[in-house]
Amino acid sequence: MEPRSWMVPLLLFILGYTLVYLPLSQRTSPTVLDKECSLLSDTHFILYSKRVVTPDGTGPYAVEVEGERIVSVTKRSEAPESAPGKPRVFDYGNLVIMPGLIDAHVHINEPGRVEWEGFLTATMAAAAGGTTAVVDMPLNSHPTTTTKKDLLDKVEATKDKIYIDVGFWGGLVPENAYNASVLEDMLAAGALGLKSFMCPSGIDDFPATTSKHIKASLPSLAKFRRPILVHQEVTDPPSDPATLAPGEPPSNARTYSRYLDARPITWEREAVRQLMEVAKDTKPGAIAEGAHVHVVHLSDGEDTLSLIKNAKAEGSSVTVETCAHYLSFSAEDIPEGATEYKCAPPLRESHHRELLWKALFDGNIDMITTDHSPSTVDMKLLEEGDFLKAWGGISGIQFSVPATWTHGSVRGMTLEQMSKWWSTIPAKMVNLPRKGSLEVGKDADIVVWDPEASFVIDRNYPIYFKNKVTAYMGHKYYGKVITTFARGRKVFDEGYHANKACGAPILAV
Ligand SMILES: *[C@@H]1O[C@H](CO)[C@@H](O)[C@H](O)[C@H]1NC(C)=O
Ligand SMILES: [Zn+2]
Repeated sequence: MEPRSWMVPLLLFILGYTLVYLPLSQRTSPTVLDKECSLLSDTHFILYSKRVVTPDGTGPYAVEVEGERIVSVTKRSEAPESAPGKPRVFDYGNLVIMPGLIDAHVHINEPGRVEWEGFLTATMAAAAGGTTAVVDMPLNSHPTTTTKKDLLDKVEATKDKIYIDVGFWGGLVPENAYNASVLEDMLAAGALGLKSFMCPSGIDDFPATTSKHIKASLPSLAKFRRPILVHQEVTDPPSDPATLAPGEPPSNARTYSRYLDARPITWEREAVRQLMEVAKDTKPGAIAEGAHVHVVHLSDGEDTLSLIKNAKAEGSSVTVETCAHYLSFSAEDIPEGATEYKCAPPLRESHHRELLWKALFDGNIDMITTDHSPSTVDMKLLEEGDFLKAWGGISGIQFSVPATWTHGSVRGMTLEQMSKWWSTIPAKMVNLPRKGSLEVGKDADIVVWDPEASFVIDRNYPIYFKNKVTAYMGHKYYGKVITTFARGRKVFDEGYHANKACGAPILAV
C-alpha cells in the first residue's frame, strides 16, 4: 500500500472542515462578534464614568453597547449594579468616555509604499490613540488612487489589516480632472470625496492641479454631494523645489528659518485666494451646489483664515481643518536639524499657533486632523538635518488625544470642544452619519482616557506606526488613552490590541 493513499480521505476531511464547516459555524448569529476581534468576550455591556461626553453635555452617564451599536445613554449619578443575567458594567470612575476620534487626513501608503506605512501599523497606532475611523489620502500609496480600479485595489489591500474603519479619498490630478466619467466612477465606487494638491505633492505620481482642474471637478462632486479637499499652497515659480542658492553655505539647510523662507506664507494665501474663487460654484443655486470645498492643514491664522471666513460668510460651502502639530509646535522652538518637525505648509511662528487656537474657539476652524504623513526613517535625513531635502511630513496618528488635550486644556478647551473638533464635525464633513457622537443607534466607537495622567513620549514609549520618527518625541503630555472600542469591539486596552484586525472599509453610498 502506498503510504499516501490512506492520507487522501483524511486530507479531504480536513479541507472540507476548514472550507465549509468553520466559516459556516462562525456565521451562527449576527449579534455574536468574532471573539478574536475583541479583548472582551461580552457583546452586551455598559460603560460608566462621571465624565461621559454626550450631545447633552458631559457628566455621569451609562452607555449601553449591544453588538456594534450604542443602545442606550442614560444620565445617572451612580454606576448601575452588575447582576446575573444583566449586561456587565464597567465603571471607569473619573476617566473620560468620549466618542472615538475621526481622523479625516492620514497617509497610509498601502499598497505600494508599505515601507513608509501600512494599514496594520497605522490602524494599530490609531486604535492605541483613541481614533476609531480614519480617511486615507489618495497618496502616497502606489499607484496613487485616481481611478475606480485603484480604489478597489486599495480596499482589497485593507483585508484583515485594519483595526478600525477606514475610508478613502480619491485623487484629483490633471489626467482625470476633465474626465467626469473617471471621477464619477470613482465616487460611485465609494470614494468619500476627492483630494488634490495646488503645488508639487512631493511624489511624481501625484501631480499638482490648478484651480481650473478643481473647478472642473465640482459638478461631478455636486452630483454625489461630496467634498474636495485641497492642499492649499501654490509654488512660485510653479515647480519650485526648495534648494540652496548658488554659493549659499550648506549649513543654512539645517536651520528651520531657512525652510520657512523657502515656503513662504504667501503661497498659502494665494492658493486659498484662488480656491475660494472656485468655491463660489458651491453656493446655493450655483453650478456646483451640493459640492463642498475643504481646506486641509491650515497653518496661517491671519490672511488665509480671513479668506476662508469671508467665503463662508458669502455662502460658499467651505470648511477648514488644522492639524494637531500646528496647535502644538511653533517655528521658534524647532532645534537645528530637527527634520522630524518638517511638514508642509510649515509649522509657523507661535503667534500663528495662538491664532489657530483662537479660530477653533471662535468656530472659524471647523476641525482637527493629524495629516499623519510618514516616510522611511532614512528619508527624514536625521543625520544631515537638511530641512530642504528631508521628507516633509509629521507622523502623529497615535497622539491626537494627548497633543490636543495638553495644548488645549491650558487655553481653556473643554472636553465638549475637543470632541466636537475631533468627532462630531469630522463625521459631518466626511459624511459618516453613524459616527461622531455617543447617541442611541450610533456605532459604538468609544475612547476611554485619563486627562490627568502624564507621560513623556520617549524611546521606550510604545509607538505602533511603522517608522518611529515623530515631532512628538521627547515631549511631555497629559491625556493617556486607556481603552478603545471600535464598533463594540474592545480593540485596544492598556498596551494590548485584539488578536484580529476587524475594522471595515468605509465606502460611500
Ligand atoms: C476618460 O477616460 C476614459 C478611461 O481612461 C477614456 O476611455 C475616455 O475616453 C476619457 N474621456 C474623455 C472625455 O477624455
Ligand atoms: Zn496630507
